Amino acid sequence: MNNKNKVLIFDTTLRDGEQAPGASMNRQEKLEIAYALEHLGVDIIEAGFPVSSKGDFESVKDVARCIKNSTVCGLARCLTKDIDAAAQAVKMAKHPRIHVFLATSKIHLEHKFKKSQDEILHMALEAVKYARGKIDDIEFSPEDASRTEKEFLYRILEAVIKVGATTINIPDTVGYATPQEYGAVIAGICHNVSNINKAVISTHCHDDLGLGVANSLAGVINGARQVECTINGIGERAGNASMEEIVMAIKTRTDFYGLSTNINTKEFYRTSRLVSKATGFIVPPNKAIVGANAFRHESGIHQDGILKEKRTYEIMDPADVGVPSQGGLVLGKHSGRHAFKDRLKSLGVYLNEIQMDKAFERFKDLADKKKEIFDEDLIAIVDESGHSLQEFCLLQDLVYTSGSHVAPKVKVTLKFKGRTYQKESSGDGPVDASYKAIEAITKIKARLLDYSIQSVTGGKDALGQVTVKVIVGNRRVIGHGASTDIIEASAKAYINAINKAMTLQKLRT
Ligand code: KIV
Ligand code: ZN
Repeated sequence: MNNKNKVLIFDTTLRDGEQAPGASMNRQEKLEIAYALEHLGVDIIEAGFPVSSKGDFESVKDVARCIKNSTVCGLARCLTKDIDAAAQAVKMAKHPRIHVFLATSKIHLEHKFKKSQDEILHMALEAVKYARGKIDDIEFSPEDASRTEKEFLYRILEAVIKVGATTINIPDTVGYATPQEYGAVIAGICHNVSNINKAVISTHCHDDLGLGVANSLAGVINGARQVECTINGIGERAGNASMEEIVMAIKTRTDFYGLSTNINTKEFYRTSRLVSKATGFIVPPNKAIVGANAFRHESGIHQDGILKEKRTYEIMDPADVGVPSQGGLVLGKHSGRHAFKDRLKSLGVYLNEIQMDKAFERFKDLADKKKEIFDEDLIAIVDESGHSLQEFCLLQDLVYTSGSHVAPKVKVTLKFKGRTYQKESSGDGPVDASYKAIEAITKIKARLLDYSIQSVTGGKDALGQVTVKVIVGNRRVIGHGASTDIIEASAKAYINAINKAMTLQKLRT
């Protein structure tokens, strides 16, 4: 396949994805995701909106400094202060890009800007010229393009290409278009913008009607060669088009699309988990490609078919998207450190010696309680061991009494800053009581924003994985904890969040 058949993948998890309500990530998490995206083979990483906050500016700068193989892009409105901030933030990147946007639809012009089409055209041209004076790789987005009058859309695109835009992105900002309509918008641009051969056409489709992926693919069929998307489809409101779905559609149906991407699809599962962990957004089990049930066959007829010939009910190989082998017993009580390390390696998890010690200790603890340990269990253990996390606080023991007619009481033994403390508390249920005991020992006030629990594998002895979102001081952190006992998992998740908040505080001071 030649380059004409290559679809560039522009990931906006760190920008549009972070606009999802409740999805904000800290600098460290963003950088970790950026590395994962680079490893995945993403062509362009939109790292943030630098003018929007000091934190966003610094994050884009971090990504620009560290990422070498992907283009690093910063978003800007058509304002000089935005473009200055974006240029400053991406300037260290090996391949920098500025993405300027301005709404062009009648409804936005009349109600948001109270400006005429000519005034908007002028603003867009000045902005693209100004940005192009700083960096060669410039993307322009007419926001709400799919609802923009066609003649004006063609006029503004032709003009911005003339003054230096190298990519023109066509957002279906409110997820209103149907695939037929969106495909026709792209085809119309190909036929009516005289200098379109000088720019790459990009899609950017929101998922308000559940059509984000279908619209993006319709765009590609009609000539778009860049797709903007996010991991797990996160994004403003109902989200953006999901990268894993678009890429796997192109790969699985090469017979239909005749296209390819640069993505190493085996990294999808791991990257999806990383984004879920950082945002606290759980991936629904039925989510295509990366959901827990995406490759599980329940019906007897299907299982029989699969045993006879996989292709009867499986259109993709789970290994192609990096899903750990289903149901395979991996380790047990008698497995040693070597086997544990080997298995993690085959899952693509590399830990330093200290992290490995912590993870192995947790594995041995778990093996005492759970006979069979699966790949998913191992990943949950590793998530908890943290990466650069310092363990100021460590749960040593937790004993509780609770019942339908018994007031819940929890006794927590905690190692905190090197000393061991014990505290018994009561509360509205054992989880609340354990959080009160932890708070009494650490004197750290953490306000719980969100709590969720998921079973890691099947079976009565399955690990429960708890995710909490808390605010400590003015910092929002996410904690994870796994145990066969859900009260213990809840306490671990809370402690994990406290450790994260303290680590971040320490990094700052
Ligand atoms: O949805 C949208 O229109 C956007 C633009 C900033 C590209 O996110
Ligand atoms: Zn968007």
